Amino acid sequence: MCGIVGAIAQRNVTPVLLEGLRRLEYRGYDSCGVAVLQDGEPLTRNAHPIFSSGEIALVHNGIIENHESLRETLSALGRDGNYLASDTMALAGNAEHFIYLEEGDLVSLSREGISIADRDGNPVAREIRELEATKAAVGLGPYRHYMQKEIFEQPSVIADSTEHLVRFAPALFGAHANAVFAEIDSVLILACGTSYHSGMTAKYWLESISRLPTSVEIASEYRYRDSVPNPRTLVLAISQSGETADTLAALKHAQVLGHRHTLAVCNVAGSAILRQAALHFLTRAGAEIGVASTKAFTTQLVALFVLAATLAKRRGMLDAHREAAMLGQLHHLPAALNGVLALAPQIIAWAGSLARKENALFLGRGIHYPIALEGALKLKEISYIHAEAYAAGELKHGPLALVTEQMPVVTVAPNDALLEKLKSNLQEVRARGGELYVFSDADSKIRSAPGLHVIRMPEHYGLLSPILHVVPLQLLAYHTACARGTDVDKPRDLAKSVTVE
Ligand code: F6R
Repeated sequence: MCGIVGAIAQRNVTPVLLEGLRRLEYRGYDSCGVAVLQDGEPLTRNAHPIFSSGEIALVHNGIIENHESLRETLSALGRDGNYLASDTMALAGNAEHFIYLEEGDLVSLSREGISIADRDGNPVAREIRELEATKAAVGLGPYRHYMQKEIFEQPSVIADSTEHLVRFAPALFGAHANAVFAEIDSVLILACGTSYHSGMTAKYWLESISRLPTSVEIASEYRYRDSVPNPRTLVLAISQSGETADTLAALKHAQVLGHRHTLAVCNVAGSAILRQAALHFLTRAGAEIGVASTKAFTTQLVALFVLAATLAKRRGMLDAHREAAMLGQLHHLPAALNGVLALAPQIIAWAGSLARKENALFLGRGIHYPIALEGALKLKEISYIHAEAYAAGELKHGPLALVTEQMPVVTVAPNDALLEKLKSNLQEVRARGGELYVFSDADSKIRSAPGLHVIRMPEHYGLLSPILHVVPLQLLAYHTACARGTDVDKPRDLAKSVTVE
């Protein structure tokens, strides 16, 4: 997936270009090139008077002796040139303000300024925004890989996501959300990969908390099939990058079919999917560089839970007492996540065994079935172990035939209403000699035994339990991949932003 970085400035831009390319590497390239133009010799166009934007002319006589301090001051203001990139991350630390171009825009850069024309050639002004990504956000800090860093950032990005949340209100989704939410009678979720799994999880919340019929579709399937549009459906596109070609095309397809009520949940400000939808929710995961999505997934889940609660409240299905309890749970989530991250040493021990296998099954039930799917996706994409996830009740309908002593079976086993059913499914695995790796809640009463390994999560987290239960699966995939020596942050043949079909 291509990435571009360019600069025009008075300083040497080569290091900026090389660093920018290095930062874009995460998007999945196999080749790159750099071209630099330099004109150092004294020429009329370099001589004074020096013009800026045609409005200011500077004439000076002789040598500017304080040129170093002047240069330092001007560089610290950062207005030493203009840059372009296909991803703001490439320029973090070099540029402070940025402008997102619209489809078809043509931009011309000089050292002094920029001009933009729209697809018809008319000059246009586009909004100038503050660059949020900092150098720190793209640095590794004490971590070995970005994926590890991003897993451990989850308590802080979730705290950041919920910091300002004092009540569930349509305004959180944009100025017109109240009017849209008043009209809708169902939800259609469109997404790919990990974002699709967050959509599958959200379906449980939207149907149980807000009582809104919800369907979830893989974007690349929806865009090519005949569907029956309901104008009262809220079409919800979920995407970390906001640039995934299939999700964007599916959203546009829904609009062509007559869907007016659209909402995008994305992690990148100004991204194409955000711009395409009528309503927006910007998740606050910060820059996610590891190709395997982790903190973007859990911040999506927070956003989707907030959406379900907001819709429930709007529909008179959430009383003040329950709203306060839900808000309290959201605010306590970072502490609960820290408790889960502290399980890393036990998970590393499991990863050592899993790393020697070539296949794995993942099981979950109810709202934790999408979490099992996400665990299997994480494992396969970074460790290259073949992993499949099933709703545990499906075992006996086929996959049980695969269970032998050679088959590790990773199970998400929270203490919810389906626990007893799940325990019966685990017996089916044990009876065939399958090796069980179970993430249970503290009070699940599943005890370790030969062939049955148990890690206890610190607490059962009710409706928000999926957000806690996915974290040990991320850690398991991460440490298994490390044990196998794969390129964790840049798995083979995968790209961070899939901007082509
Ligand atoms: C897996 C992963 C991918 C993305 C998918 C959609 O770890 O990251 O499956 O979730 O390519 O990308 P976004 O969310 O950017 O639309």
